[in-house]
Amino acid sequence: MSAGEWQSKNVEYIRQGTGSTDAKGSGAALKREAEERAKVGASPGAKEDSARETGESPYIQVDRVFKRCQYSQDALIEVLHAAQETFGFLSEDTMTYIAHELKLPLSWVYGVASFYHHFNLKPQGEHICNICMGTACFVKRAGEIVEALEHEFDVKAGETTADGKLSVNIVRCLGNCGLAPMVILDGKVHARQTPETMLRNCKEAVEG
Ligand code: FES
Repeated sequence: MSAGEWQSKNVEYIRQGTGSTDAKGSGAALKREAEERAKVGASPGAKEDSARETGESPYIQVDRVFKRCQYSQDALIEVLHAAQETFGFLSEDTMTYIAHELKLPLSWVYGVASFYHHFNLKPQGEHICNICMGTACFVKRAGEIVEALEHEFDVKAGETTADGKLSVNIVRCLGNCGLAPMVILDGKVHARQTPETMLRNCKEAVEG
C-alpha cells in the first residue's frame, strides 16, 4: 500500500468513527477478532465473551483508561497495555479504535505498537517464548535455540503451535547483553541459555 493510500484509509477510519472499515462497523470487526483468537484457543477471549454476556462493551477496560487519562494522546502506551491485557494482542481493529478515540493517525498507533516488542500484533499462545536475536545473543547461538524450538514444536519463529500452546517470537536486543543468549519465557528471564536448556524449559511450560 502506498503512503497516500495508507493515509486516505486512515482518514476514512476516523471519519467513519466505526473502528472498522467494515460497513457493519465494530460488530463485524469484533467477530473477526474473536475468530482469530479462537484459532489458537487463546484464553483472553474469555474476558470478551463474558463482557458480551453481560452486555458490556469489550473495550470497557480500555475505555476506563481513556477516561482516567482524559483522552490524552500521551496515554497511548498505557491504553495499548490495557488493550493487550484485555485481548492478549493488538489487532488492527483494536488499534483503529484506539486511534479514533485518541484522534491519532492509525499509522502512529501502529508505529508505537510495532516498535515495542512487548506488544503482540498477532494472537498469542498459552505460553510465550521471546528469543533475543540482537547481536550479542546471535553470536552466542540464539539462532540455534530458535531452530531447536522450531524443530521440536513444529512451529515457525513468529508463529504459534497448531494447538495454541506455544508462541515462539524473535525480538530485538532486550537491553541486557551480559546475559546473552537471553530468552523471556512467560515473562520470566532465562539467561545464558543453550538450545538444550530452552527445549527443557519450554517443554516443562507446555506440559505444565
Ligand atoms: S543482544 Fe540480546 S540482550 Fe542485547
